[in-house]
Parts: sequence; C-alpha cells; structure tokens
Amino acid sequence: MTAKLAVALDIKNTEEALSLLNSLKGEDLIIKIGYLLFIKEGPNIVKKIKDMGFSVFLDLKLHDIPNTVYNGVKSAVELEVDYLTIHTLGGVEMMKKAVEAKEDSDLKLLGVTVLTSHSEEYTEYIGSRYGLHQLALKLARTAVDTGIDGIVCSPFEVRQIKEKINKKFIAVTPGIRIENSDDDQKRVATPEFAVREGSDILVVGRPIIKAKDKKKVVREILEKIKDA
Ligand code: C5P
Repeated sequence: MTAKLAVALDIKNTEEALSLLNSLKGEDLIIKIGYLLFIKEGPNIVKKIKDMGFSVFLDLKLHDIPNTVYNGVKSAVELEVDYLTIHTLGGVEMMKKAVEAKEDSDLKLLGVTVLTSHSEEYTEYIGSRYGLHQLALKLARTAVDTGIDGIVCSPFEVRQIKEKINKKFIAVTPGIRIENSDDDQKRVATPEFAVREGSDILVVGRPIIKAKDKKKVVREILEKIKDA
C-alpha cells in the first residue's frame, strides 16, 4: 500500500479552511479535523469535506465509559467518517465497544497511546510500572489485539513498533517536517524517512498550513511519498 498524506486542517477560520480544500480538490488526501473546527462547525464540515471528495479523519481522541464511546463511534459511522481516533488508555472494554460499534463499516479506528507531550513524570502520575516507551508499546499491542485498526506513533518509533507487534495495522505518524530549517540539532522526520520506517499515513499540519503556496507543498510531499 502506498502511504497516504493526511493534512491537519488546523485553521480557525472555516472559510479559509474550506478555500484551502477547494484549491486541493482532485488530490488523493485525507483531511484531519479536530477540536478547532469540529466543535465549532460540527457534522456539517465533515459533510462538506466528504462532498469535496476527500477522506475525513476525525481527531477527537475519544476516552470515556465503554457505552459512551460506543455511541460516539456509531455517530461517526453514520457521518461516514473514514478515520477516528480513540485513547487506548480508555481500556480494553472501551476499545472492544468501539470495535463493536464500527461493525462492518469502512471506519478505521486509530488508537492514541501516550501523547508525545508527556514526559516520564506521567508514568509516575498514572502509577504505571512501565516507562513511557514501554507503556506506549504495551498500549499499542493491546489495541491491535482488540481489533483497533491503527496506531498513532512517532516516525522514530514506527519501525520498532511494527517489528514488535506482529500483526497488520495502520501506522499513523504526525511530526513530519519537510526540511530542518530552524534547528540543526533536532532530528527531523522527513516524509521519505517516515515512509521508509513504515508509516502508512503521514499527518502534516503546519508545514502546509503556514506555507505561502500550500498546494505546492502538498504536491511536493505527495511526490516525496511516492518516491520514498
Ligand atoms: O506539527 P503539525 O502541525 O504538523 O501537527 C499536525 C497534527 O498532528 C496536529 O493536528 C496535531 O494535533 C497532531 N499531532 C498528534 N500527535 C503528536 C503531534 C501532533 O496527533 N504527537
């Protein structure tokens, strides 16, 4: 499978967001929307994006009691969302109900493990006997075993996670940068690197959203993915 590009539509102004999508019509893209647009615009924005011919990735990171998550997933199926995130920390029962809710629809459930904003102190906070990395791996494995379709992880850990979890799943990687322009010290995951490491869906936000010529950057990334 060729890797796909998910554009994180982190734009506050709805008109601006839709006008960007209009200029991208015809490209094979997944559009990721989250709190910023979905809480304000609701299902209408999902329908508009679908009508433009894009796949929709609803990044709401569900985490609640199993029955409530079941209802949320059912609503996402009705809305014909293509990808939906849930927190694997919500537990096995919650994930089982999420899988049950999607039934035989085309919705793909993506499990978030440990958010990259957390540091080692977090494991102490939740009383885990695992370190951050080990905890993320354990959560990913449990999610895949429960029937979750994919895992959100860093491009730097995707190879290891794929090697350690011996089952098929969709690896979704944010944190992609086109070039290392700001800081020579930081490791940067380029689109080519992410694909070679095993990423199936590359999530890119600011490198596209903040670019002057957004369409050009999208095309460049799509080329890089194809040639990786
Ligand atoms: O950094 P960038 O703007 O490319 O981020 C793209 C998207 O990836 C954002 O919408 C952000 O919420 C998401 N993200 C994530 N997990 C991370 C880092 C970013 O889901 N660890």
